[in-house]
Amino acid sequence: MSEPKPKRLGVLLSGRGSNFIAIADAIAAGSLTGCEIVCVLSNIADAPGITTAQQRGFATEIHVSKGVPREEHDARMAASLKAHAVDLVILAGYMRVLSPGFINAFPDRILNIHPSLLPAFPGLHAQLQALNYGTKFAGCTVHFVDEAVDHGVIILQKVVPVLDGDDEAALSARILEQEHTAYPEAIAHVLSGEYRAHGQRYLHIG
Ligand code: GAR
Repeated sequence: MSEPKPKRLGVLLSGRGSNFIAIADAIAAGSLTGCEIVCVLSNIADAPGITTAQQRGFATEIHVSKGVPREEHDARMAASLKAHAVDLVILAGYMRVLSPGFINAFPDRILNIHPSLLPAFPGLHAQLQALNYGTKFAGCTVHFVDEAVDHGVIILQKVVPVLDGDDEAALSARILEQEHTAYPEAIAHVLSGEYRAHGQRYLHIG
């Protein structure tokens, strides 16, 4: 019997792109199987992650968001993703709030990673928010995307301690290391199909 066709991932990023690289590396190393990255899109022309994607030979597209109405920009992004026939949309440091039109174009097919234990600390500077609040644990969350910011059914979370000597950079680095294993793990699990959502809960089956 022939192998099933790899699922097609479309990555959206706005910055450094370390989560994109972690996913690409996991696929290249064979630790994340059954999928391929078919396009890397950005709203920022000089996002370092886009340069890396180009250097690695991925198909890239830039749709600058500045000055473009949200619905219009999102429609361009969605059209690119549809043209690449993506099965899953992977937000990897994509720092834009998505319009309902975009979200509805990919129902239950958009994943995001956020550097906090949601629902704590959505939005910007999540790691600094955790430090300032004084939590003893922090971490990252991979979740399906719904219409609220950094919100949706949680697929998995990874926890790290907050240490007395931490500043924002140190805590961010400890969380980022976990992000890089969490995202490939979450993608693999979603692609396995061995889950069902029960309200807000992601339940493993099989
Ligand atoms: C990551 O820490 C990711 O969790 C965060 O942006 C960073 C992107 O880093 N995303 C959010 O805050 C989303 N609300 P990267 O460009 O190196 O992957």
